[in-house]
Amino acid sequence: MIRIIEAKNEKELGTLAAEQILSLIRRKPDAVLGLATGSSPLSLYAALVEAHKKGEVSFAKVKTVNLDEYVGLAPDHEQSYARFMRDHLFSLVDIDMKNTHLPDGLAADPVAECRRYDAVVDSMGGVDLQVLGIGPDGHIGFNEPADTFTDGTNLAVLADSTIDANARFFASRDEVPTRAFSMGVGQIMKAKEILMVVLGTNKADILEKALFGEVTPHVPASILQKGENVTVYCDPAAASVIRAKHPGAVTLA
Ligand code: F6R
Repeated sequence: MIRIIEAKNEKELGTLAAEQILSLIRRKPDAVLGLATGSSPLSLYAALVEAHKKGEVSFAKVKTVNLDEYVGLAPDHEQSYARFMRDHLFSLVDIDMKNTHLPDGLAADPVAECRRYDAVVDSMGGVDLQVLGIGPDGHIGFNEPADTFTDGTNLAVLADSTIDANARFFASRDEVPTRAFSMGVGQIMKAKEILMVVLGTNKADILEKALFGEVTPHVPASILQKGENVTVYCDPAAASVIRAKHPGAVTLA
């Protein structure tokens, strides 16, 4: 089942999405969170940091696995996802860094790294809540449109549109890594709860296609239609096409 919730703006989206995570951690202080990077979850992470500062939540026992990491970037590289997580969440809350996991962008043997990361995810006993964004081509993690859905951690080749979209974070397009480690679609779908955050007009069409179109690996996020507990938080711009085509499908926060 998919719930689509429209927030008034990015800040409110972050607050609402954070509340779902806070309620999980209150129920289960050692919850396993699957985390995403990118611009969409920034207000969510800011709201979690704020709640921690106010003494409303402790991450001391929380464990995390991130969806993906660029191949070739060291954990302290400015654009690595390890660095993103440290800068936007891990260094700002009381999480034990030993409980945080990302694929190793510098792994010498990529195939072995995929299997190691599968073992890490399995060792957690399942992800309680997975945070996702959606790419302009419908990707989740770095699982790009393809003829089949991926299953476990895989070495993904970034689509040209993904490289274009991510170039904004790098000095030039040539510097954007072309490959990334990504948790697979099958692995993502095993999470007990899925929380997707979506912002902006440029995501409005693909979000409608993913949530109401055919379930196909050519739109990887369409697999969410098979999820049992999926909540999509969007801003008015991202929700606009769904609101126009499927009146009543969107709940206003
Ligand atoms: C990032 C990730 C990607 C992003 C997607 C949207 O860890 O898994 O799938 O969620 O590319 O990125 P933004 O939020 O920057 O538009």
